[in-house]
Amino acid sequence: MASEVRAGLLRPGQKELPSKYLYDEVGSELFEVISVLPEYGLTRADQRLLRRHAGDIVSRLKPHVLVAELGSGSGKKTRWLLEALAQRECTTYCPIEISPTALARCETELGGIECVSIVGFERPYLDGLLAAAAQRGAEDQLLVLFLGSTIGNFDRDAAERFLAEVRRILFAGDALLLGTDLEKPLPQLLGAYDDALRVTAAFNLNLLARINRELHADFDLGAFRHEARYDAAQRRVEMHLRSIRDQVVAIPGAGCHVRFLKDETIWTESSHKFRAEEISAMAQRNGFRCDSQWIDAEWPFAENLLVAE
Ligand SMILES: C[S@@+](CC[C@H](N)C(=O)[O-])C[C@H]1O[C@@H](n2cnc3c(N)ncnc32)[C@H](O)[C@@H]1O
Repeated sequence: MASEVRAGLLRPGQKELPSKYLYDEVGSELFEVISVLPEYGLTRADQRLLRRHAGDIVSRLKPHVLVAELGSGSGKKTRWLLEALAQRECTTYCPIEISPTALARCETELGGIECVSIVGFERPYLDGLLAAAAQRGAEDQLLVLFLGSTIGNFDRDAAERFLAEVRRILFAGDALLLGTDLEKPLPQLLGAYDDALRVTAAFNLNLLARINRELHADFDLGAFRHEARYDAAQRRVEMHLRSIRDQVVAIPGAGCHVRFLKDETIWTESSHKFRAEEISAMAQRNGFRCDSQWIDAEWPFAENLLVAE
């Protein structure tokens, strides 16, 4: 973390911090609150699709399935799929998380489902997926879940490279269930990342609080403002933290001082938005075919079942 914070804040031009650091103990709890805010329709749409179509999704899978979930968070939405799978046969579920808080919550949330055993991995996505894949039996189909449109946190090129990396770990016939948030009117998009209660603002500012806690920095949280903006060319919402004055911040744990000009920002997260029809081409470029797609009528969001070719 120290070296990435240092590199991101000392780079020339736009300062950046990797969004994965938003999810410490406080950040993971705040994300749970965000997921139930009226403005953040994304989680509810994902959940509606999984609840409504769990049976259909499971009917498209082979008889023996090992489930691995990338960035499971609390895993709440995954319950519908696991219950549908468990009606057919006992199954193993491997949540993969870099946040120990999220992983523990997920294990508690889903631990009681009859016939589902949980093997969690506190690791980054691909390391975790390799470890989960090592659990598969000879007959198992691997079903990878990447829900919540977390794929949108990658730049578009990086998202494609990530899909290709996932594909390399899979066998032909394995499946990836990919959640993608779709383009929608601007007020709805921006509201989802800038809610009236300012929970998302707290989630964003907690990144600086985390750097204070873990790297002994002296960020004055009152001197930065949360900002959500839409880049129409890139089709993404960006979260930034704007410095409200000229200031210098000491970060002893990263061995640096960082100078901020008034109005300069730190870019902390991107959430790329998709068109339903582009998913199939994206899948094909990276070794998958799109078997099925389900779209929520209330909040444009697509669940895509991709099969490794
Ligand atoms: C946007 S949240 C989504 C959580 C959940 N899947 C959902 O749909 O509500 C992203 C989750 O991925 C985890 N995460 C972020 N970067 C990660 C990485 N590189 N490796 C593993 N987990 C990561 C975070 O801790 C967080 O819980």
